[in-house]
Amino acid sequence: HLKKSLLGKTVLITAGPTYEAIDPVRFIGNHSSGKMGFSLAEEAAKRGAKVILISGPSSLKTTHQNIDLYRITSAKEMYNKVFEFYSHTDIAIASAAVADYTPKEVSPEKIKKNDENLTIELIKNPDILKAMGEQKTHQTLVGFALETQNEEENAKAKLEKKNLDLIVLNSLRDEGAGFKNDTNKIKIFSKKEVFDFVLKSKEEVAKDILDCIETQILK
Ligand code: PMT
Repeated sequence: HLKKSLLGKTVLITAGPTYEAIDPVRFIGNHSSGKMGFSLAEEAAKRGAKVILISGPSSLKTTHQNIDLYRITSAKEMYNKVFEFYSHTDIAIASAAVADYTPKEVSPEKIKKNDENLTIELIKNPDILKAMGEQKTHQTLVGFALETQNEEENAKAKLEKKNLDLIVLNSLRDEGAGFKNDTNKIKIFSKKEVFDFVLKSKEEVAKDILDCIETQILK
């Protein structure tokens, strides 16, 4: 991008999974690699934005000087880091796969195997994106929806419930979409419109998402 269309803007991006500790050696996590969020960060940085990238455990690295990368582990840590920066953010994009639940208690020692079954009680994690929607003042807020059924209905419900400007739907029913892939297939919903995209690399998907933000919201 020669235009530097996001010059002067601060873009906050969440990426990757969160890990919720069970004991010192075990956790609850998911398959997010961070690739979608890191691609968004690179593209926003290329367009001149100052990027705050807050990522759960991921092997990916960044090189662009406009990107400040903060690595966190749990949803609680992601929440705290997001709200260090949120009030000074122009555009926030939540591509992280945040664990909805976390163990009520973290065992200080490695849980030993015995003859019984094991039950772990889970409590709800904070919904980071929902809190961003509630505390929105001037920010443009973009969420993701990762669905396996009733995709469009669920995505639209999240757009409303979390007070978003746009939501990016990816469905695990589409081959090559979601996590574990270098590609994604998305639909973007605003309150009034739907934009449908073909399967492409996550780098290209990141461009489509930022183009959509620029044309739909920033104008
Ligand atoms: O990292 P990759 O391997 O490239 O995979 C990319 C991806 C599939 C993880 C990504 O494209 C994606 O869909 N991210 C959102 C995954 C998700 O958790 O979706 P959800 O429908 O459960 O959550 C809805 C939205 O709320 C998301 O923007 C999520 O970041 C946010 N959320 C959810 C729960 C929570 N406690 N806090 C949140 O902020």
